[in-house]
Amino acid sequence: MQKIVIAIDGYSGCGKSTTARAVAGLLGYIYIDTGAMYRSVTLYFIDNHVSLTDPRAVSKALEQIDITFHYNATKKVNEVYLNGLNVEKEIRGMDVSQKVSDVSAIKEVRHALVAQQRKMGKSKGVVMDGRDIGTVVFPDADLKIFMTADLYVRAERRQKELLGKGQLVELEEVIENLRSRDEIDTSRKESPLKKAANAIEIDTTHITFEEQIELITNLATSKLISG
Ligand code: DC
Repeated sequence: MQKIVIAIDGYSGCGKSTTARAVAGLLGYIYIDTGAMYRSVTLYFIDNHVSLTDPRAVSKALEQIDITFHYNATKKVNEVYLNGLNVEKEIRGMDVSQKVSDVSAIKEVRHALVAQQRKMGKSKGVVMDGRDIGTVVFPDADLKIFMTADLYVRAERRQKELLGKGQLVELEEVIENLRSRDEIDTSRKESPLKKAANAIEIDTTHITFEEQIELITNLATSKLISG
């Protein structure tokens, strides 16, 4: 059976990860959350006091970092491991969220992670979500989706998600974090977040997760049928 690469890009908090994970599950594909990779690097940089303005320190630190994904059969999700340790919980906190856009604007960080992401997707049968998947990582992806949603709606969803993980964060703080990440992600020099010319834009403000999943799965199925 033919397999395709599905690239899902978009702003922070549009539901990319949840949607991408579900679509991958339905198609029997691998799901790669590239945001989790940038978050893991950020966690390492915070824990090891790596100076973001020192390219040599950054490159040296990158050599010490090993990021892998392992399937958690109980939760039915792929989880991220940093140097052999499961860091799923640590990378979702606000301290990592506040620094991750600055870390992911660093050229050396992007080069290292993009190379690894290309390897992970080379056998196809993959759904990858991030900011530059359709533009830089897989410019030839078979299906490219660009997700957007109203900032307030995104913040409410993210706040609920954090609460589900036991973190109570003020809505204002979440709005500010999303706003500043969008700003840095879209204006950075190295592969800024932008819609690929041939990406299909989906505004998720007024649609449910179930509808997003159905929409993308249908698009993938028609790609597979049309070859
Ligand atoms: O998808 P996320 O919110 O977990 O991503 C966290 C940050 O990582 C995001 O603000 C920008 C960065 N990122 C990136 O620059 N490129 C990617 N492919 C994925 C994430």
